[in-house]
Amino acid sequence: MASSLFDKEHQFFFPTYKRLTLDIERGEGCYLYSRDGKKYLDLFGGLAVNSLGYNHPRVNDAIVNQLKKYIHLSNFFVQEPQVTLAEKLVAATGYPKLFFTNSGTEAIEGAIKLARKWGKKHGKKDLFGLSNSFHGRTMGALSLTERAKYRDGYEPFLPHTGHIGFNDREDLQHTVNEHTLGVVLEFIQGEGGVNVVSKEFAVELNALREKFGFLIIGDEIQCGLGRTGKFFGFEHFGVRPDIVVIAKPLGGGLPLGAFLGNERVAEAFSYGVHGTTFGGNPVACAAGAVVLDEIINKGLMKNAGEVGAYLKSQLERLRGEMPEMIADVRGYGCMVGVELTRDSQPIVDELQRRGILANSTNVNVIRLLPPLLITQEHCDIFTTELRSILTKFAQQPVQAAAK
Ligand SMILES: Cc1ncc(COP(=O)(O)O)c(C=O)c1O
Repeated sequence: MASSLFDKEHQFFFPTYKRLTLDIERGEGCYLYSRDGKKYLDLFGGLAVNSLGYNHPRVNDAIVNQLKKYIHLSNFFVQEPQVTLAEKLVAATGYPKLFFTNSGTEAIEGAIKLARKWGKKHGKKDLFGLSNSFHGRTMGALSLTERAKYRDGYEPFLPHTGHIGFNDREDLQHTVNEHTLGVVLEFIQGEGGVNVVSKEFAVELNALREKFGFLIIGDEIQCGLGRTGKFFGFEHFGVRPDIVVIAKPLGGGLPLGAFLGNERVAEAFSYGVHGTTFGGNPVACAAGAVVLDEIINKGLMKNAGEVGAYLKSQLERLRGEMPEMIADVRGYGCMVGVELTRDSQPIVDELQRRGILANSTNVNVIRLLPPLLITQEHCDIFTTELRSILTKFAQQPVQAAAK
């Protein structure tokens, strides 16, 4: 590895990232290849961006074709790649209106603004996120994010924002009322440790929306777009949000996000009230059309559901074998969390040494977000190595994971 690359990184960048000690040369399918000739099975796929894996020929072709036409036009122009992708998204989701952004956090900001415009007409102001949530790094998104790790030192946050306990029905009942503008939630929390909203909480939230007329805003940035075996994560819970936010895999690796709204909010924005210079970049949208086609029509979403269920069943088996090491296995499809009884980072480091990349989140959770084209063989490689590593670690004294 060219150590100077890492030295220069330390020299030039604000120290916000703890980078992996890998110098990646290229990727292919579910694998990454480092410059020193090693091969890695990537089970966190660009943190849920690389749903189609690496070096996907159709994505590459779409990008090359579009960049030869135009890489950028301002949003003064109607752009064919944007309209094509919008039409596909509306057809796939049933949400009649959308707006393209560059990132997840910008899409959350846009969703907040759409909700506020709507709320002005309906006399509603208060927006709530859930505990342990993550919605992005900009100030609006941070106001709804709850985890101290991301918020500390950035106060003050947006007025009229607050939090409700995750899956805490009583807190929900006591908090929302006729002044509530909306509740923003990840139905399956990502950064928080792959925490799944309970059916009871979802039913209660739906009922309280009926009662008080607020908006439900679904953050589908990580769990959406086929990852859980359904197009949206919220489909597992029988609740349909009024506004839905997507990003991560949408642009096939290029920066692209969107927020979509139902009939209730369809008229909330008017000419000039929101905009972006780069959002909806035509090259990203051209890639996005391929992403949607592969997810919906070429079986990737189905594969994510089926292979993900296999992965989960194998991990459940492992949990049965070593309950002293694995506290819980949760998630849907290709979004799986393995909660350990100890710090997950050393396990993830050892996996990396053995050629498997996974992510450690919320101290003791191994988070898996593999490309949706993962196979059962890939799952077996992972569970075999994990079993071996956990067996080795089980012989060492337990250190309780500090939250
Ligand atoms: C659920 C969720 N919301 C919002 C974001 C922010 O997206 P971005 O990093 O593209 O701004 C993320 C990113 O990890 C996310 O997982």
